[in-house]
Amino acid sequence: MSRGTLIDLLYLVSATTFILALKGLGSPKRARMGNGIAAVGMFIAVVATFFKQVDGHSLYHVGLILVAMAIGIVVAVPTARFVRMTAMPQLVAIFNGVGGGAAALVSITEFVHIHSTRPATYVTLEVLLGVLIGTVSFSGSAIAFAKLQELMTGRPVTYPGQQIINALLGAAGLILIVIILVNGQTTLLWILLALAVVLGVAFVLPIGGADVPVLISLLNAFTGLAVAASGFTLGSNLLIVAGTLVGASGILLTRLMSKAMGRSLSNVLFSAFGSVITAAGGTGADARPVRSGSPEDASVLLGFASRVVIIPGYGLAVAQAQHVLRELGEELEKKGIEVFYAIHPVAGRMPGHMNVLLAEANVPYEQLLELDEANSELQTADVALVVGANDTVNPAAKDDKDSPIYGMPIINADLAENVLFLKRSMRPGFAGIENELLYNPKTTLIFGDAKDTLTKIVAAVKAS
Ligand code: TAP
Repeated sequence: MSRGTLIDLLYLVSATTFILALKGLGSPKRARMGNGIAAVGMFIAVVATFFKQVDGHSLYHVGLILVAMAIGIVVAVPTARFVRMTAMPQLVAIFNGVGGGAAALVSITEFVHIHSTRPATYVTLEVLLGVLIGTVSFSGSAIAFAKLQELMTGRPVTYPGQQIINALLGAAGLILIVIILVNGQTTLLWILLALAVVLGVAFVLPIGGADVPVLISLLNAFTGLAVAASGFTLGSNLLIVAGTLVGASGILLTRLMSKAMGRSLSNVLFSAFGSVITAAGGTGADARPVRSGSPEDASVLLGFASRVVIIPGYGLAVAQAQHVLRELGEELEKKGIEVFYAIHPVAGRMPGHMNVLLAEANVPYEQLLELDEANSELQTADVALVVGANDTVNPAAKDDKDSPIYGMPIINADLAENVLFLKRSMRPGFAGIENELLYNPKTTLIFGDAKDTLTKIVAAVKAS
């Protein structure tokens, strides 16, 4: 077998592992394994590439490539290892951005390289699309990172005529590509590059922080397409397959996330959602009465229950209370109480956020119920224990046609006999809107950091 055939075979193995990895990532049980399979596939692909020969030459600049890889490993491994769960979306944003930037750089190098050889029009088109899409993904991801990291405002940044200006910028990019294809002027490439940087920034500015995770998923799809374009340019089947997988799965994930939020993708991208806070919580003189209780009150209520449904949300991740929550679940089970966890698809700030948190705390997968299943259990639940969730249990999504979250499927905590609501204040959730469930006569609010409150509830349950 020739060296080329062997390398192609190894690339085929890598491409297969990427598909298997995506399959694994489809379920919380197999997600870790899926990630491992993808890592092995990527390792095989990288090693095989070192033995590749192009036009009879081995890989050039091996030393430089190794130095670049070493820098990448030194920066990325500790960053990924020690990142807080709540900071995961911005980490994904920045990793995605550098992926898009790398694809754009490959396309620029290739443009300069092939320019003198007067390549076929479609080859130049692939290269130019790689530059445009990869750069938009790079600069857009950089702004998404800045928003999530609170380096700039997380609110939508809007100005008059914004969407028209953005549309004109997009059209200008495509016109520039046509001009370069027709007259082949190299200098125009740099104008295209600058325009793509501006377009990426302008595209992301009007998107509010709550919608940025959906945007990141879309930018991730863009990066995949830019990588696939680089694959066509470099004649690499592996890059074409990997880029297409990222592009397709990114688009599917984007659609799923928008659907779980009860909104269309165009509404997420163009409505500047989150520019106005419609409720700041009832802390002023006009504050409406709510019923609050102590952790001990909560333990008494839980002690009388026979079915408890726990509804975790973003606050659980902030408080890092997943371990003590699992402990509470175990203590209740010891008393013969049935315990389930109701998982909303967009609870938290990234896809699968609650699954990852609860898996880290070794909560049994069998106890995790998806939205519809959870809602059928809530009808017979004695207590719905809401831990750091808010928008995902807000009945306004069902009842209030004027609410910005109207139409979003929610976990029907209000169907349970009693609701225990763990949060620190009357502040709203990420969508910035009032939650009627807080004022429902069934609801008891236990104010405080979720970890502190849960620790006290566990102690009280143990003592009872
Ligand atoms: P949110 O509606 O954001 O509510 C989180 C709640 O946690 C807040 O009410 C907050 O109240 C409480 N909290 C924060 N820190 C706490 C702590 N240390 N201890 C106790 N409570 C704490 O959360 P959710 O129900 O998970 O909804 C997620 C939101 O993010 C939705 O609007 C969703 O559309 C959006 N979103 C999600 C995703 C994905 S993929 N997950 C993507 C984009 C957007 P206090 O401040 O009073 O404590």
